[in-house]
Amino acid sequence: MEQVEKTIDERIQGKALVTENKEENTKKLFIESYGCQMNMNDSEIVAAILDKEGYNTTQILEEADLVLVNTCSIREKAETTVRKRLQKYNAVKQVNKKMKVGVLGCMAERLKEKFLEEEKIVDLVVGPDAYRDIPNLLQEVESGRDAVNVILSKDETYGDVSPVRLNSNGVTAFVSITRGCDNMCTFCVVPFTRGRERSRDPKSILEEVQSMVDKNYKEITLLGQNVDSFLWFGGGLKKDFKKASEMAQATAVGFAELLDMCATKFPKTRFRFSTSNPQDMSLDVIHVMAKHKNICKYLHLPVQSGSNAVLKAMNRQHTREEYMELVDSIFKIVPEMSLSQDMIVGFCGETEEDHQDTLALMKYVKYDFGFMFSYSERPGTLAGNKMEDDVPFAVKKRRLQEIIDLQQEHSLYRTKQHLGKTEEFLIEGTSKKNPNEWKGRNTQNTVAVFDKGNYKLGDFVMVKVEDCTSATLKGTVVGYSDNN
Ligand code: SAH
Ligand code: F3S
Repeated sequence: MEQVEKTIDERIQGKALVTENKEENTKKLFIESYGCQMNMNDSEIVAAILDKEGYNTTQILEEADLVLVNTCSIREKAETTVRKRLQKYNAVKQVNKKMKVGVLGCMAERLKEKFLEEEKIVDLVVGPDAYRDIPNLLQEVESGRDAVNVILSKDETYGDVSPVRLNSNGVTAFVSITRGCDNMCTFCVVPFTRGRERSRDPKSILEEVQSMVDKNYKEITLLGQNVDSFLWFGGGLKKDFKKASEMAQATAVGFAELLDMCATKFPKTRFRFSTSNPQDMSLDVIHVMAKHKNICKYLHLPVQSGSNAVLKAMNRQHTREEYMELVDSIFKIVPEMSLSQDMIVGFCGETEEDHQDTLALMKYVKYDFGFMFSYSERPGTLAGNKMEDDVPFAVKKRRLQEIIDLQQEHSLYRTKQHLGKTEEFLIEGTSKKNPNEWKGRNTQNTVAVFDKGNYKLGDFVMVKVEDCTSATLKGTVVGYSDNN
């Protein structure tokens, strides 16, 4: 079934991830990452751990000593893709018999030891909280044993691991601030594959940002499944406090404070963040966004459905009315805010009326961007166990097409609002269609292409927007912005 996959970062999906190599490293790692940005960032952590074990990254599968695939379980299709990749590795392993194959991430966590039975090629299965154990697990494999570590942790944040940047454009990078999710949306496998939510020490976050700024990175995206519930107590994690009174006395840092600290300390660096769950989003965050020019005016605010009945069945903790009220407040505080959604069609029990509610909500908000999916039942989730996946395939397909078409209209409506304006864009890379053009994004996350001129990757430039499609602006650079 056609789905709009969430490929916010087009550098990652199914590509060999590489970084600068070190002469002293003698072994070769081929690593691929599927799924979300968090997986990409995790692959960077794994590459950092293996760099210390003597591995350089390679783009050539045939020459790899170790092949790692970081996997996604969010929809069935994501898992099918990985199974296909394993067949490809298998073919290569017939020739390169020494090659070891490891599966990382959510699929590893979901299937655990079963992976070794189902896919004979796999030597190593490692869940998202066990990456520090990879060197030990590799030793196990070397001594002829299969190695599995899928233990989930309540406090692992990899806060002290400095990620090796993979396939980097040298301009934009991710920094993880929370791991796991406690929300238990009934359709979602993430709480089972990524475990309990935990926040990373703000000190280590600021240090990582500092190191990126020192390396000349211009834009940092703070990552978490649910960034708004970021919470750090000075002195430790929630579980470190014996009594509630101890915890109350400790200084707490919430997401709004963290964002404020980052934007204040690094005024020339752009900040983005993802993902905001409407139920945990506080207007304090929006006020901090309004206060700082360097916090991008873009919010990814998934709603999943516009119907109250479906939201309830999904265990989303808000109604459509509350969501609309939140959107109204956001636009009141930051009128130029750009918004994007995640939407699922065909969830268990979704009626035509529910679907109409979704279309109506979309018309109300007119999102700038959208990531739309048809419901894919996931084993082990509450919906998978207890609810019937009763919307026929053809109906899901039609509803998905309807929301995609509507989103396209809204995206065009939103991109048209930029016509005639002169806006700041950060140059991130070469346009896919024309090697003589740069592509960059403005604060609202809208992409523009423009002639390269004498401008460089990583420059902030002012672009007069002259033309647009629903996805891309086209314009002419009029000079540097004052942010360089
Ligand atoms: N909070 C997370 C959500 C991760 S999943 C974040 O950081 O974005 C990303 C999106 O995948 C969800 O918002 C939802 O729209 C979609 N999704 C999750 N489970 C799904 C399922 N079982 N079927 C179809 N889409 C799903
Ligand atoms: Fe999944 Fe809901 Fe958390 S979509 S990641 S359980 S907020």
